[in-house]
Amino acid sequence: MCSFSLVLFLLAFSAPLVSSANSPNIILFVIDDLGWNDTSYQGSDIQTPNIDKLAEEGIRLKQYYVQPLCSPSRSALLAGKYPYHLGLAHGVITNGHPYGLGLNETTIADHLKKGGYSTHAVGKWDLGMHKWEYTPTYRGFDTFYGYYDADEDYYTHKVGGYLDFRNNTDPVKDEDGTYSTFLFTKAIEDAINAKSDSPFFIYGAYQSVHSPLEAPDTYLEKCHSPYPNRKIFCGMMLALDEGISNITSLLQTKGLLDDTIIILTTDNGGQTALGSSNWPLRGNKATVFEGGVRGISFVWSTKLRKSNYDNNAMMHITD
Ligand SMILES: *[C@@H]1O[C@H](CO)[C@@H](O)[C@H](O)[C@H]1NC(C)=O
Ligand SMILES: *[C@@H]1O[C@H](CO)[C@@H](O)[C@H](O)[C@H]1NC(C)=O
Ligand SMILES: *[C@@H]1O[C@H](CO)[C@@H](O)[C@H](O)[C@H]1NC(C)=O
Ligand SMILES: *[C@@H]1O[C@H](CO)[C@@H](O)[C@H](O)[C@H]1NC(C)=O
Repeated sequence: MCSFSLVLFLLAFSAPLVSSANSPNIILFVIDDLGWNDTSYQGSDIQTPNIDKLAEEGIRLKQYYVQPLCSPSRSALLAGKYPYHLGLAHGVITNGHPYGLGLNETTIADHLKKGGYSTHAVGKWDLGMHKWEYTPTYRGFDTFYGYYDADEDYYTHKVGGYLDFRNNTDPVKDEDGTYSTFLFTKAIEDAINAKSDSPFFIYGAYQSVHSPLEAPDTYLEKCHSPYPNRKIFCGMMLALDEGISNITSLLQTKGLLDDTIIILTTDNGGQTALGSSNWPLRGNKATVFEGGVRGISFVWSTKLRKSNYDNNAMMHITD
């Protein structure tokens, strides 16, 4: 029910709904472990001009709360329910866990698909993988390109020694050595390029900027933090910021910017021991201090273009 009201809420921002052909495209970026002070619009030392531009033209959610961990937050986001109603409040779903987001729950992708959208999930899933029925292409998504588990290597796409990388349900075996930010950016671009008459919903759940700390040298060279972890984390952020720029440029080239709502959210607070910063909020990921649960998020659309607008209403990721 809640996720249905989210859809209505989103549609209310744009031109009146006449038919699905006039419904806005939606790109929902979920940035893994993005902290309160990791983007330059928040005052970070890391320069993220492309994310900043969207945040500065859109509406920044400043009293926005998430769950302290990945699977709880993502289940709340996709099902529109608090995770304790989903049996998923307690931790992260990894391989070997024989449960996931309940099959009786309806995801936002299910609702949008019913509303005429083509639906694509890219990147991290982490909502159940012990049976096919729990994986994204059975949960309302037409396509999936990404991984089912929680924290794999950015280059080998392995977690705990096994390959965890899929194109729909097929293993992807030929991308060993390619940094995932490039792959996920391209998959999102592919989904945009594949647009037909129907609007698209792209769930862009980047691996960035979760550990392990890994970034290509071309980005690291632009980072100068004296703290080794922060320096690598900065490289990861610069690659992500470039990916988001590539995606918005493609939307512009294709004349889709006016018809697309872009939402960005973190899933939980940053992991301060691994390069992230939630300053001045106390605590980090996996805690219920503000640093763990007060999330970064904004909503962008040319239809609601503002300038440096902070929305201070209390919101939660279920909304
Ligand atoms: C982020 O940290 C800087 C200091 O490094 C501080 O000036 C800034 O106010 C912080 N941002 C927020 C949103 O509190
Ligand atoms: C799905 O089943 C669980 C467990 O029985 C229940 O708690 C939950 O409310 C159900 N959800 C829906 C949408 O019916
Ligand atoms: C996924 O596989 C389909 C064919 O099944 C192919 O058309 C598509 O390009 C692949 N996606 C990526 C991102 O490689
Ligand atoms: C962005 O596009 C440029 C130009 O095509 C490309 O070289 C770069 O690798 C892309 N960046 C990402 C993160 O995908």
